[in-house]
Amino acid sequence: MVGFVEKNGVLHCDDVALPVIAAEVDTPVYVYSAAHIRAQYDALAGAMVKALPETRQPMLCYACKANSNLAVLKVLQAQGSGLEIVSEGELHRGLAAGFDAGRIVATGVGKQDSEIAVCLDKGIHQFNVESLPELENIQAIAAQMDKSADVVFRLNPNVSGGGHHKISTGRARDKFGISVERIFEAFEMAQGMSHINALGLSMHIGSQVSTVETFEDAFKKLAGIVTDIRAAGHEITRLDIGGGFPIIYNEEDLLDFDAYANWVNEIIEPLGTEIIMEPGRYLVGNGGALLTEVLYVKETSDRDFLVIDAAMNDLIRPTLYDAYHGIEAVENRDAQERVYDVVGPICETGDTFSQERSLPEMARGDLAVIKSAGAYGFCMASNYNTRPLPAEVLVDGDQFTVIRKRQTYQEIIDKDIIPEWL
Ligand SMILES: Cc1ncc(COP(=O)(O)O)c(C=O)c1O
Repeated sequence: MVGFVEKNGVLHCDDVALPVIAAEVDTPVYVYSAAHIRAQYDALAGAMVKALPETRQPMLCYACKANSNLAVLKVLQAQGSGLEIVSEGELHRGLAAGFDAGRIVATGVGKQDSEIAVCLDKGIHQFNVESLPELENIQAIAAQMDKSADVVFRLNPNVSGGGHHKISTGRARDKFGISVERIFEAFEMAQGMSHINALGLSMHIGSQVSTVETFEDAFKKLAGIVTDIRAAGHEITRLDIGGGFPIIYNEEDLLDFDAYANWVNEIIEPLGTEIIMEPGRYLVGNGGALLTEVLYVKETSDRDFLVIDAAMNDLIRPTLYDAYHGIEAVENRDAQERVYDVVGPICETGDTFSQERSLPEMARGDLAVIKSAGAYGFCMASNYNTRPLPAEVLVDGDQFTVIRKRQTYQEIIDKDIIPEWL
């Protein structure tokens, strides 16, 4: 068993007891299982191997917005992954982790001139273009640099997918992608552009999409549009079908990958294009947890609070999306259950990880984990309340290493400048 499992009454990450990490690195700390991440990659790649011909395997481009620590990137790069980036920062991280630029795709609605230029200079696989003004801008920058830009157009298929309205990205009202009507205009425009190769389409409909029918609908729309665009005389040689695969936070349904892969084989494969996918959360989400210590048990006339040393600045998903995260005691896991609100130290009522959660009775100094925190956890952390960014640790079997040091107060304060005139 890999990931977060109980052994001899103590919660471990793979073969490392979590109290050992807390003693050495302190809390709060993100802990990731390399073995879990590898297993997730292999499960997804394996489903595609089963369903699709050997010569038509997709390039899996890990959407590193989910977790962009260099060591995590390295684990996935070593598994054979490509990379999806949304910023120049993520490009630099990817290259530093050893990804070949030719296996990197750049998405995002607001690509800056400098980001486009660096991507062109490094020779990335493609830009996933999100608007016509962006296309004009890429053409202008590529012409200036005398480079040619491979692009696909991100289709907004007007499909509602995703576990929360803030993570749905494929509806007409969302800021992402180009509507069907304007996609034709985009191909027409690109034809007259000297430094643009328009190669195909991309699509990403949202996150935590657990119903295979949602993908089936979106694929059918995509295939119909490919046929129409080809009929209009344009070549389509690449299709990027996005990510959005769910993990279990609480009692969600998992996507039936075999059914998904079969739809890819039935609808996308016959189109004869290169296939790209952009999985993020699925690869890393359940492979990480935020390890934290109980500061106080605060009993009030209304309820009992477990005040922990992790806060919304470390993990914002519960505050931002009302997201559910499992919480478990690390030791004394058989203790009598009590009902707590689990809260952080920040001066916001929203700094609440769970309400009325039944947990083994805990006391000051006890350790707990907030589970499923490997995706959209550390990478969304902030310095709110001048709290340092937490440390990150990677476990592999029975070894562990700090893969990001805890930020110091000096590092935070040093960035501020008091003007001489004050
Ligand atoms: C364009 C694009 N691709 C891929 C992803 C990854 O999504 P997920 O983590 O749900 O797989 C996202 C997430 O926001 C995205 O915006």
